[in-house]
Amino acid sequence: MDEEGLECGKPDFVLLDQVTMEDFMENLKLRFEKGLIYTYIGEVLVSVNPYQELPLYGPEAIAKYQGRELYERPPHLYAVANATYRAMKRRSRDTCIVISGESGAGKTEASKHIMQYIAAVTNPSQRAEVDRVKDVLLKSTCVLEAFGNARTNRNHNSSRFGKYMDINFDFKGDPVGGHIHSYLLEKSRVLKQHVGERNFHAFYQVLRGCEDAELQKLHLQRNPAVYNFTRQGAGLSALESDEKSHYLAVMEAMRVIGFSAEEVGSVHRILAAILHLGNIEFVETEEAGLEQGHVAVAEELLVDHVAQLTATPRELVLRCLLSRTVASGGRELIEKGHTAAEASYARDACAKAVYQRLFEWVVNRINGVMEPRGRDPRRDGKDTVIGVLDIYGFEVFPVNSFEQFCINYCNEKLQQLFIQLILKQEQEEYEREGIAWQSVDYFNNATIVELVERPHRGVLAVLDEACSAAGTITDRIFLQSLDTHHRHHPHYTSRQLCPTDKTMEFGRDFRIKHYAGDVTYSVEGFIDKNRDHLFQDFKRLMYNSSDPTLRAMWPDGQQDITEVTKRPLTAGTLFKNSMVALVENLACKSLFPGPPAGRDTCTPALRPLRLTLVSLSVLRCGRSPSMSAASSPMRTRWLPGWTRTTVATRSRTWGCWRMCGSGGPALLPASLTPDSCSGTR
Ligand SMILES: Nc1ncnc2c1ncn2[C@@H]1O[C@H](COP(=O)(O)OP(=O)(O)OP(=O)(O)O)[C@@H](O)[C@H]1O
Ligand SMILES: [Mg+2]
Repeated sequence: MDEEGLECGKPDFVLLDQVTMEDFMENLKLRFEKGLIYTYIGEVLVSVNPYQELPLYGPEAIAKYQGRELYERPPHLYAVANATYRAMKRRSRDTCIVISGESGAGKTEASKHIMQYIAAVTNPSQRAEVDRVKDVLLKSTCVLEAFGNARTNRNHNSSRFGKYMDINFDFKGDPVGGHIHSYLLEKSRVLKQHVGERNFHAFYQVLRGCEDAELQKLHLQRNPAVYNFTRQGAGLSALESDEKSHYLAVMEAMRVIGFSAEEVGSVHRILAAILHLGNIEFVETEEAGLEQGHVAVAEELLVDHVAQLTATPRELVLRCLLSRTVASGGRELIEKGHTAAEASYARDACAKAVYQRLFEWVVNRINGVMEPRGRDPRRDGKDTVIGVLDIYGFEVFPVNSFEQFCINYCNEKLQQLFIQLILKQEQEEYEREGIAWQSVDYFNNATIVELVERPHRGVLAVLDEACSAAGTITDRIFLQSLDTHHRHHPHYTSRQLCPTDKTMEFGRDFRIKHYAGDVTYSVEGFIDKNRDHLFQDFKRLMYNSSDPTLRAMWPDGQQDITEVTKRPLTAGTLFKNSMVALVENLACKSLFPGPPAGRDTCTPALRPLRLTLVSLSVLRCGRSPSMSAASSPMRTRWLPGWTRTTVATRSRTWGCWRMCGSGGPALLPASLTPDSCSGTR
């Protein structure tokens, strides 16, 4: 740390004489101007996105941090990675690093630096299997970014899914496998993007990167403006040469990971089929179309393309597009023709689902390759794991929908985990040990989590009930039901409940007072997105494809319509279940170690509580300036300082890693993005 001079500000916010938001921001700014983008809050690392290459990374920097203690060197991600790795190795306990911050803060870049560090310091004996695992770990990011990232107005390479990656280590501390969990891909992006945004990178990479001959086989034209799904972002494409080089990098990464040429071919055909599907339009016809429907496809050549690319019979594709099979009591099946609107809806649902299944298949395929091989716990000992969580930060847009609701609920869950396991545990322990400390009033967000996930009454349960109700339940009726259930909830409101508040619309909006600020959600599309309905005919069609890769993505298509009696879980419930599982998983990792054995030798042990709380206040204040300044005592105390400063932070941080080697670290490097640098994006 002493490598940094006094003029560089405090490398650890704990060293500030006074902890006010002005001082905090002043210190951050001072350091940023000197090119120092990392600062500790005790054992939490705060990072400011520089939006330019800084000479901070690479083998030399790695060597500087390798094997050192956290505070021996200036704050850095490598120091965090090193400390995590050492703690995991020393104690053979699973550990994890949580990265949070809002879109564009630098989470994914941080996770890549962490992985690069781990890859660089492991496998000194150059074992082939370990090298293979490291290659796959490093290359997997490139492939996942192609399929799961997109250009948004905030970040040209924004992750549109949450990612948690486990890396397994053997007793020597070498990586022997890994596993990726992905969360809630923003699949609505396949159909439509905001102005200034693009579809997932993979589409443009295929269009710009494939050789002419392959493009012809896919019946594609190079220009993304030709396709409904890529038209919006067509003018925003990166340089064509960039797109081509990204395409080649993804191809190489897929090869290294072990995707076969056939599989890559299938992936391209599926992407092409989605683009063609998006161009299919329906027209009402006079003469009776299929069965009793009066709808036809405007350009049948597109149906030919979809059929050929998905290796399915043309007649069946047409049938699926124009009608659906319904079971009417017993085993009797009726074919019911779509209206044009229904057909468009079904087409879109199919396009989204095909992309989602493709993404999940890619993740599973990588997992299959990373699965630790030939490991016998009795012979090799138990593997230890480092988990890296790179998950969406809090989101507030001018219009917030179901996706933002899920993402913000995810942040509430992580915040709750933090509160439960850090603050309470720390305070209880201090009390138990008779250490004097000043009680800090913190906001417990359990009530907001309950508001969302409570059985029978929570927002998700009310939404599920609306989705399963017979008849035409509308989003508006769902909102009324929410109002009835939560009219007295301190964190819930709507225009109906607060008629004078003109910032919400009647019958459309509800507002949740989240720990990080108020967010107004529009219920439009909630029921539809939650139901996430796809006709069984499509699933069967895909399952019956003669392309083995596509077929493998649709195991549920083998069910006969008459067997499909159980309603599938809704998108909201699936997401809730995955969040509960994630939080359980994090909680049992060494994020939050128990009391250390040799406590008396640990003089800095008094620090964590204070540090944790400082980081909490950052968490609670460090919101996008667009978020409202309402609510808790702690936040209102901090906010004036916050808003006066010229550097606006857009992210949050929390976490704690108790010192004195009491177990593994639980770090959350977050990133702060000064507005002053957003122009360089
Ligand atoms: N340490 C860094 N050095 C230089 N540039 C960086 C650094 N971290 C991030 N960036 C720049 O910021 C951009 C956004 O970073 P990144 O994609 O990691 O954000 P994110 O937090 O993952 O956002 P999202 O939530 O949208 O996925 C990167 O593409 C890169 O240009
Ligand atoms: Mg990201």
